[in-house]
Amino acid sequence: MEANQPQWLDNAIFYEIYPQSFNDTNADGIGDFQGIIEKLDYIRELGCNALWINPCFKSPFGDAGYDVADFYSVAPRYGTNEDLKRLFAEAHQRHMHVLLDLVPGHTSVEHPWFKESMKAERNDYTDRYVWTDSVWEEPQGMGCIRGISQRDGSCAINFFSNQPALNYGFLNPTLPWQQPMDAPGPRATLEELKNIMRFWLSMGCDGFRVDMAGSLVKHDPDSRGTIRLWQEIRAFLDEEFPAAAMVSEWGEPDKSLQGGFHMDFLLHFGPSHYNDLFRCAEPFFSQRGKGDVSAFVQKYLENYEKSQRKGLICIPSGNHDMDRLSRSIQGDSLKIAFAFLLSMPGAPFIYYGDEIGMRYIENIPSVEGGYNRTGSRSPMQWDSTVNAGFSAAPKEKLYIRQDESADRPTAAAQMADENSLYHEIRRLIAVRQAHTALQSKGKIEFVYAEKDAYPLAYLRSSDDERILVVINPADREVSFGCTHVPKENLYRFGEEIACKDGIMTVPAQTVGWFRV
Ligand code: GLC
Ligand code: CA
Repeated sequence: MEANQPQWLDNAIFYEIYPQSFNDTNADGIGDFQGIIEKLDYIRELGCNALWINPCFKSPFGDAGYDVADFYSVAPRYGTNEDLKRLFAEAHQRHMHVLLDLVPGHTSVEHPWFKESMKAERNDYTDRYVWTDSVWEEPQGMGCIRGISQRDGSCAINFFSNQPALNYGFLNPTLPWQQPMDAPGPRATLEELKNIMRFWLSMGCDGFRVDMAGSLVKHDPDSRGTIRLWQEIRAFLDEEFPAAAMVSEWGEPDKSLQGGFHMDFLLHFGPSHYNDLFRCAEPFFSQRGKGDVSAFVQKYLENYEKSQRKGLICIPSGNHDMDRLSRSIQGDSLKIAFAFLLSMPGAPFIYYGDEIGMRYIENIPSVEGGYNRTGSRSPMQWDSTVNAGFSAAPKEKLYIRQDESADRPTAAAQMADENSLYHEIRRLIAVRQAHTALQSKGKIEFVYAEKDAYPLAYLRSSDDERILVVINPADREVSFGCTHVPKENLYRFGEEIACKDGIMTVPAQTVGWFRV
């Protein structure tokens, strides 16, 4: 089933906000909705026109809010439902859209549904989660929670052991406790999910980033059941909220887009080879120039062919789960990486702070189930005032310790410096926004993406124009045969790229976007 794209996705550029760490306006050491509202102009000025906010619902925060305890109320630390509603309105006034993070696969152990579900007596929530019918039987292939209540059964978990799996049924049940997708329990769970979506969409939210979207139906090796489930959600959205945008954390666009998602992420796990670009021993975008982009390109093309015209593949600069981009590449390499991220098809996602090259904080204690991810979640560095302008709370009260190095980047300093990463990204976004060929739906054709070789070159095109992108992250000059003749240089980083007799000579660490 193909989803009609909401039109605003054609030129959407997203900014991901981890709300805990963005901007604290009441000096309690943790970010809040008012803080986001006050920075909307900053985000807009950078060129981003859409937001993804990590889960901001009531939660004991065993997994930074991915363990929801009430899907219908925001966590008091961020403000009230009314404040979130105001955030939607403020964003809309600036022609921006807001996606919330929907966690359909599991809840917190503290969710009242789970508390009911743990009871030995049957009730409305008995079948809301995936339980075996004996505490001695564990659900195969999934971790479980058992022995914590009087209910004689083991409850499957979806991620951490404080995240019991909601019950959407099994594709082909083989044991008595495994319920089919159309049994009353799984149906009730799905109806509740629609209600949750209705609730926030009616309040002004523009869609959802869906957490672990491929995880819902159990024992579903080819995802046929989960795809069918999302198709039902697609039908519901088409009927009631046709403008809502949906992006999945799935990492298999051939499946998610069939399920009616508009976009799917490339992930740092799974088959995408995304890590070859920025996060491995020899990333392609490192100036060492020892990387290999070919496996990534091959996989990308495979997905692109399979999903073409059905939806978008989104490549994030980073997110709250992976190392900061600047952990493995620095300086001009970061600018060159963004010249790639902002010239690929699909909607780009910029993780807060990546626009100023914020660093991964090494060796800090885990906060709220972050573990190694905590280093990528430190508070935003706004300026040179106390706590880098993030919060007026005493330093020890900050949600996560900040980058304390003397030369930590700040938004203010980078905004004042024309040569900063921030300004390079602004320029890149401005050029992208001025050319449909470079935007979400412009086509891509790879011109040069050879094994263990540099540069990378591809052609983006729309009905009205064709743009050749040439990127050389390596610290040496390289060349390649190219039949496309540059007519106009739309964007340039570094020295000039020359084209003569069908050979392009690309100096070290340069980028060119050319109309051909
Ligand atoms: C997703 C989230 C991650 C979370 C997990 C469980 O991968 O991005 O932060 O821990 O799902 O909800
Ligand atoms: Ca606060």
